[in-house]
Amino acid sequence: MPADNIQLDENGKLLHFLSIEGLNQTILTEILDTAESFTSIADRQVKKVPILRGKTVANLFFEPSTRTRSTFELAEQRLSADILSLNVDTSATTKGESLLDTLRNLEAMQIDMFVIRHQDSGSAHFFAQHVRPGVSVLNAGDGQHAHPTQAMLDMFTIRHFKKDFSQLRVAIVGDILHSRVARSQIHALNILNTAEVRVVAPRTLLPVDTESLGVHVYNNLEKGLKDIDVVIMLRLQKERMRGALLPSEKEYFRLYGLSQEKLKNAHPDAIVMHPGPANRGVEIESSVMDGNQSVILNQVTFGISVRMAVMSMIVGQSRQQSGEES
Ligand code: NCD
Repeated sequence: MPADNIQLDENGKLLHFLSIEGLNQTILTEILDTAESFTSIADRQVKKVPILRGKTVANLFFEPSTRTRSTFELAEQRLSADILSLNVDTSATTKGESLLDTLRNLEAMQIDMFVIRHQDSGSAHFFAQHVRPGVSVLNAGDGQHAHPTQAMLDMFTIRHFKKDFSQLRVAIVGDILHSRVARSQIHALNILNTAEVRVVAPRTLLPVDTESLGVHVYNNLEKGLKDIDVVIMLRLQKERMRGALLPSEKEYFRLYGLSQEKLKNAHPDAIVMHPGPANRGVEIESSVMDGNQSVILNQVTFGISVRMAVMSMIVGQSRQQSGEES
């Protein structure tokens, strides 16, 4: 999608962060390395650096969020930004104002950076195409399309525990069809040269063109987990399902739920991940979620540093553009 290129300037530096598609290995690695440098800030007595001092960030969440919204807000606070978090339920969009009018009104408040989550695929691109030059847009999840900061915190988690992507087999299990997270993860894993990326799902929860994304498709969980180093479980996104795509949750758990028993098919030192929110007993057994192979809470922690990294890379760029020192 050429529209993805609006996230980079002519020198390949980040202006917006809209999707993993269209980015290269150098920039993804720079995000991971920059995030690494931010992890120690959490251990300081004063958990703050002045990188976004004087900048105003607006968080626009048109869909529910727990982890993404709070870790974006913490990342912004740790970078010393001024923050406006718009409660979309009570905002004028529910009174019929268009997305573009909402944007224009917020721009009139001199916002420097927008973090947006919206139910429509393409909404973050739309925002980025319409903001004034120098204003940045970060996609916190658009419809079924992309969730690039989630994918990057997942890559950070994988690199932290497993080091070298070129030696790894990764399986993404569950509702791939409705998952913006899976799409972004697949692009990131391939850009980072992962040895093998598998998706494991019933046929009804796979997009028609899955193989063209550069993955191996499995419909059987035991087979799909064989020799796997990283297992990423996904939630059944029932709010996006039209009609019955599944017999029952019980049957789904029997076939595709990650139990201790099924996890034995993977490498003994495989890590188990989940972007959240997780449904215990539906896609993942409680004991696996709390077990010693689970790194699900580490993902949440790393989300702060990764979001700090992306925002600081974007600001570094716009500071140079405006001739300010970095
Ligand atoms: C995901 C999302 O919203 O796309 N969650 C998240 O951001 N951590 C996945 C989901 O809702 O299942």
